Amino acid sequence: MVRGCLLPRVSSARVYACNPRLAIRSLISGVPYRYLCRHLFANRVKSLGAAKSPAREGRRNLSKAILVVLGQFTEDVEGRIARDFTVRRVSSDAPTRYEDVLRAAEGADALFISPVVKLDAEFFRRVAASVKVIATFSVGYDHIDLRAAAARNMPIANTPGVLTDATADLAMLLLLGAARRAYEAEQLVRTGAWAKMSSGARLLGWDCAGKVLGIFGMGRIGQAVARRARALGMKIHYYNRNPLTQELAGDAVFHRSAQGLLRVSQFLSLHAPHTPETHHFLNAQNIALLPAGAIVINSARGGLVEDEALIAALKTGRVAAAGLDVFEGEPNINPGYIRLQNTFLLPHIGSATLETNTAMGMLALDNIDAVLAGKPAPSLLKL
Ligand code: DGY
Repeated sequence: MVRGCLLPRVSSARVYACNPRLAIRSLISGVPYRYLCRHLFANRVKSLGAAKSPAREGRRNLSKAILVVLGQFTEDVEGRIARDFTVRRVSSDAPTRYEDVLRAAEGADALFISPVVKLDAEFFRRVAASVKVIATFSVGYDHIDLRAAAARNMPIANTPGVLTDATADLAMLLLLGAARRAYEAEQLVRTGAWAKMSSGARLLGWDCAGKVLGIFGMGRIGQAVARRARALGMKIHYYNRNPLTQELAGDAVFHRSAQGLLRVSQFLSLHAPHTPETHHFLNAQNIALLPAGAIVINSARGGLVEDEALIAALKTGRVAAAGLDVFEGEPNINPGYIRLQNTFLLPHIGSATLETNTAMGMLALDNIDAVLAGKPAPSLLKL
């Protein structure tokens, strides 16, 4: 966002005014004084345009909007940030990042954050009045108090749509990883235990074909998971606030209650946002409704699962296996998951592909640009 050209003005009159060195050069070379003056003037303008000194660079930067950036992004996104903004970088792994973000926001125009920082009511009470928009590098926004943002009239943008396929792919990796005991299998190879196994020993997993996949939350990502799971021969059932249109649902079976869905879900994949209503949705009571030996997949948010209840069910085999990419309190996850063999665990990489991360970053920047230019932004959250 370049707000206008702030190159220092150079007047030809100042250059043309008495310049003894040029006058001497003119006498010696025989080149007319006015010609040498014109030449000097043109060169000076050119060198100012290509200013390199820190002082000039600083002055040029004053013309760009100030963006607070939390973390590092792909090369293309970083290139655009460096080109269009004066950047204030805040480390995304410092434990004091909340205060760091607030400090960096003083006098800044926009914030580009990620779910590692929680923007609560206190944040919105304290954030500098200069900040005109906040974009999060995520489709999920449970880390942002939208009501408090609304009270400050602060536009908040997220990144819907562009990460649907990557996240759905990852959900399938979790599903297959859990069903085929990928963690244990990989360990056999890496530890050399495979070579010591008796010839008849087999690491038996569970088929997907013909099984019911229950999808809790049939938004964009839930639907993309359904498309992929059909290719594995799975039967799709879902719970959603509202049923999909026939065109979108296809052969998927709608359940009016989440409990109805749980009762038939041999595989259960969570795709709902984390809200006060969905907090700890998968608790002991709801786990008890699942068919014995069900497989649980979570690529949405850790807060949807009551960890102790799921860990207890995994220990007894009531839940045969779980594939999890998200955790309550991540990255400090419940150690109970780590001790279990029937868990396939990933470090919240649902959207982590080069193409998807670039698209997410570009969409976040599109939103910031649009708000700062007073134009309609592509994906502002409704406050
Ligand atoms: C999202 O976009 O919400 C992903 O989970 C990354 O946080």
